[in-house]
Amino acid sequence: MAFIADRIDRIKPSPTVAAGQKARELRAEGRDIISLDAGEPDFDTPDSIKEAAIAAIRAGQTKYTAVDGTPALKEAISAKFKRENDLDYSPAQITVGVGGKHVLFNALMATLNSGDEVIVPAPYWVSYPDMAILADGIPVFVECPAEKNFKLQPEDLERAITPRTKWLVLNSPSNPTGAAYTRAELKALAEVLLRHPQVYVLNDDMYEHLVYDGFAFTTIAQVEPALYDRTLTVNGVSKSYAMTGWRIGYAGGPETLIKAIAKIQSQSTTNPSSISQAAAVAALNGPQDFIAERAAVFQGRRDLVVGMLNQAQGIACHRPEGAFYVFPSCAGTIGRKTPDGRIIETDQDFASYLLMEAGVSVVFGAAFGLSPFFRISYATSTELLEEACRRIQRACGSLV
Ligand SMILES: Cc1ncc(COP(=O)(O)O)c(C=O)c1O
Repeated sequence: MAFIADRIDRIKPSPTVAAGQKARELRAEGRDIISLDAGEPDFDTPDSIKEAAIAAIRAGQTKYTAVDGTPALKEAISAKFKRENDLDYSPAQITVGVGGKHVLFNALMATLNSGDEVIVPAPYWVSYPDMAILADGIPVFVECPAEKNFKLQPEDLERAITPRTKWLVLNSPSNPTGAAYTRAELKALAEVLLRHPQVYVLNDDMYEHLVYDGFAFTTIAQVEPALYDRTLTVNGVSKSYAMTGWRIGYAGGPETLIKAIAKIQSQSTTNPSSISQAAAVAALNGPQDFIAERAAVFQGRRDLVVGMLNQAQGIACHRPEGAFYVFPSCAGTIGRKTPDGRIIETDQDFASYLLMEAGVSVVFGAAFGLSPFFRISYATSTELLEEACRRIQRACGSLV
């Protein structure tokens, strides 16, 4: 009898984490590797937020807190939802977890029975399917092709819904494509959902503040109030406030679901770190201007990367609305030969070629459920991005 549970065989380790690890190993061997695989801002947490955490430690806020968030943080989140999304979530409708990832995990654990289906538009953030599987659910993938800007189409959603569908996962702006849904696009999806009252929306707004060219961010519970009672609006401080290491995510939703999530959390992590919660209060209630300043920097980097990648032979790169990722096609490199005679057969081969020959670490598209593409995170310095894109151009130019 195996000691390790069967469920471990049903999931895979995070391919994005694996790409980062491989790049670190090669660097430790002395190789010059530029990592474009990381899913976190290269900016630091603002000082005012750090100071709030230090003050919390000094003030003795070092004990257990309420399981799903301190009253102060829930108030700050409630105010944020009202201020930025015009959504009314009372503190009793809010949960705080150890990162957005944890909130999503808890939500699936709290709702899925064996065989329940979770619609996951592909390409997707790598964790959704495996989290659904861990919670005994079945991920149902719906392909969102590049020609549709990687966005879920209402008719494809309609076709994917069954009596067993419990959740639709919506992530806008998206990891890995950067695609963000307009109000009209969300409204069209909402119309389908209104016909299927058994389906809830697991709405992941983690990249809300990283939108460009004046794009107007909206979220589905705001666009379609009739879906408010069956939406979990998930967000967090990781990406907007450059706080990935602090591990604070949150969500607003129906009170029964929020209570079920708290029950799970009470038997697993108890509360998120008291100090990180104090920092998150400062983030949400404090000055917000740096967010737009940083977004402007990201927009400049996006334009640089899109421009340079489109000059690489065999690569076609769209210009997404948000996040800090692009998801270019490498279709034009498939079937070509590397200088040492190997054929590029898949996007995984292409990513390996870039890593080993050009010293650029990217994540292959199949990891996100759509090929032949690759994901680049442009959350790194402009100089490194320029150098990385030059290397990619050279590597693509050497294929025969
Ligand atoms: C789409 C998406 N959702 C959720 C998360 C989780 O964020 P957190 O660091 O708050 O757990 C990430 C992180 O990469 C993400 O890309």
